[in-house]
Amino acid sequence: MRLDEAQALWDPEPGWLNTASYGLPPRPGWAALQAALADWRVGHTSWEPWDESTGRARASFARLAGVDADDVAVGATVSQLLAPVAAGLPPGSRVLLPDIEFTSNVYPWLVRPDLDVRAVPTNQLLSFVDDKLTVLAFSLVQSATGEVAPYAELCAAARAHGALVVVDATQACGWLPFDAGLADVVAVAAYKWLMSPRGSAFAYLRPGLRDAWTPHAAGWYAADDVHASYYGPPLKLPSSARRFDISPAWFSFVGAAPALALVEEIGVPAIHEHNVALANRFLTGLGRPPSNSAIVTVDVPGAEEKLDRAGIRAAVRAGRVRASFHVYSTTSDVDSALDALTG
Ligand SMILES: Cc1ncc(COP(=O)(O)O)c(C=O)c1O
Repeated sequence: MRLDEAQALWDPEPGWLNTASYGLPPRPGWAALQAALADWRVGHTSWEPWDESTGRARASFARLAGVDADDVAVGATVSQLLAPVAAGLPPGSRVLLPDIEFTSNVYPWLVRPDLDVRAVPTNQLLSFVDDKLTVLAFSLVQSATGEVAPYAELCAAARAHGALVVVDATQACGWLPFDAGLADVVAVAAYKWLMSPRGSAFAYLRPGLRDAWTPHAAGWYAADDVHASYYGPPLKLPSSARRFDISPAWFSFVGAAPALALVEEIGVPAIHEHNVALANRFLTGLGRPPSNSAIVTVDVPGAEEKLDRAGIRAAVRAGRVRASFHVYSTTSDVDSALDALTG
């Protein structure tokens, strides 16, 4: 589907420049969710049809990430999906991460006081990769700045030193083409660039490596045969990444499956081109060099009041504007924001 045709499937109020905070649902996702809620309200169906969305969303995510669906676990949040990886490290393991990394890829390591966790400036990560490193953890796109990590280079460096690569691709998956298989673990919360309800998240967990991690949150949904495992022992987990599944938040995945299908249909390269063009137009309009990311940050005095007055919704933190542009954003959104900031 062409992106300009697909745009008719969203109903944004003009001026939403904050997909880095949450993405807006496409109409098919919204409609599926409303239908499920209506059925739930009156007890019209059993829950199994809601759950089928989880399988469809997992398969879509796997295709978007370029990996096998058997290597993808479903969950609710990034931090929850990363927890078993952190819990599985031997005491004393060294973990390296950027000093502005979003907390969900920081606390899972820091809750273990027996790990040697080091946070360094993003542009110095490579120089800290050495034989003493156990895990290199970073976001593919930084939430605070929109900076795109040198993914292939970081993965290659870590691999050369035998370190695991753990990536949070929440701010990338849905607009930035990438191959999850270069890393060992890639976790994504779907409520931003995958335009799904909160409570839907995915993680690629490399086969071979994941056997060393314990699925501490395993319940009936992590069983080898889910529908034959409602009661009692024995423990029978599959060898696939499903052993790390938690029981899905049904309605979140009901909204997620059509949204991910639509991202696939439009195609991430087309979304990438659209988003980056808008982001660069915004930067150019403010006299800044293009950054080729869908998330940009700029210092503009009085930005918060200026954007508020014009009804533009972007994130403003400590005087710094973070604007983000997705499939439903338009040149008119960009130009209204520029008028507000420069007028
Ligand atoms: C990079 C990144 N990762 C993850 C999240 C959300 O994390 P979680 O799913 O653990 O709530 C955010 C939210 O802002 C984020 O920016």
